[in-house]
Amino acid sequence: MEMDDNAGTGGHVPVMLERVLELLGPALSGPRPVVVDANLGLGGHSEALLAAYPASHLIGIDRDPFAIDFSTRRLSPYAERITLVHASSGDLAEVLARTGHTTVDGVLFDLGVSSPQLDEAERGFAYSYDAPLDMRMDTQQELTAERVVNTYSAAELTRILRDYGEERFAPRVAGLIIKERAKEAITSTKRLAEIVRDAIPAATRRTGGNPAKRTFQALRIEVNAELSALEAALPAALDALTLGGRVVVLSYHSLEDRLTKQALTARTRDTSPPGLPVPLPAHQPRFRLLTRGAELPSEEELARNPRAASARLRAAERIRVDD
Ligand SMILES: C[S@@+](CC[C@H](N)C(=O)[O-])C[C@H]1O[C@@H](n2cnc3c(N)ncnc32)[C@H](O)[C@@H]1O
Repeated sequence: MEMDDNAGTGGHVPVMLERVLELLGPALSGPRPVVVDANLGLGGHSEALLAAYPASHLIGIDRDPFAIDFSTRRLSPYAERITLVHASSGDLAEVLARTGHTTVDGVLFDLGVSSPQLDEAERGFAYSYDAPLDMRMDTQQELTAERVVNTYSAAELTRILRDYGEERFAPRVAGLIIKERAKEAITSTKRLAEIVRDAIPAATRRTGGNPAKRTFQALRIEVNAELSALEAALPAALDALTLGGRVVVLSYHSLEDRLTKQALTARTRDTSPPGLPVPLPAHQPRFRLLTRGAELPSEEELARNPRAASARLRAAERIRVDD
């Protein structure tokens, strides 16, 4: 009988796994290293980290209660070495304080949505299925995509579609949403995808995949406040790292990657005022970059796992602690 390598994990393959292990490895060689998986998901990266670094303790965070349930079962062989927390990584500093870890040795971010979030139609993330317009990663929060689509002003919708979806036709899509919702509330992914298609000029529609893709990405980012969570989480992760501690970030669209690049470069720069004869210790960089630019998955990985296609990896190491 042929066995599916990913049986029981929804076919999910952890992205750039070997590189993640290689980059975090040197930080996890101490007697009792602590590593944070800030996007636990199905626990694929976490399981590999726990297996590869047997002395480590792992704190796994996800805002999706299903991810916590699933990973609790999957990681049960490591129950003694894990602390799983249902929270947003935007609250990382608080989560670390609550779990009694003021410093940690490694942090992994594997941003974005998980395979089950995309594949389970009723979660409303995918334009390819007809489902209620939901898109909440945390099913306990109030804001849904339906609420955004039916209550935000034209200006707010335009800004979201432009900034988070990089949708060229943002005002047209927002305009048609406003017109259609005045006739009847827009409550399904299918109806929204039809509206987007109708708003995009026919010539453009023929190129570049499903026109709803950008609008759905934008709404997902808004509903889950993904960028503000990342803006809070990255500095908290960097601040928590011990000397020699490492952070690895996998992002999946340019907005996440830009925020990551900014957060890492801000801390790897010497901020001494120009023209000083000697560098000032207080202005020396606290971190060094471990990656040149953003690393991409190999061709071989892409052939195996098409969902890795948009991944960008950046990493940094703490080389100084505050005096
Ligand atoms: C790409 S998946 C992670 C997959 C995981 N690395 C694995 O190997 O199974 C991203 C996960 O991050 C979670 N997530 C996204 N934004 C989050 C946030 N701000 N705080 C906590 N979890 C978040 C999602 O719910 C999703 O489960």
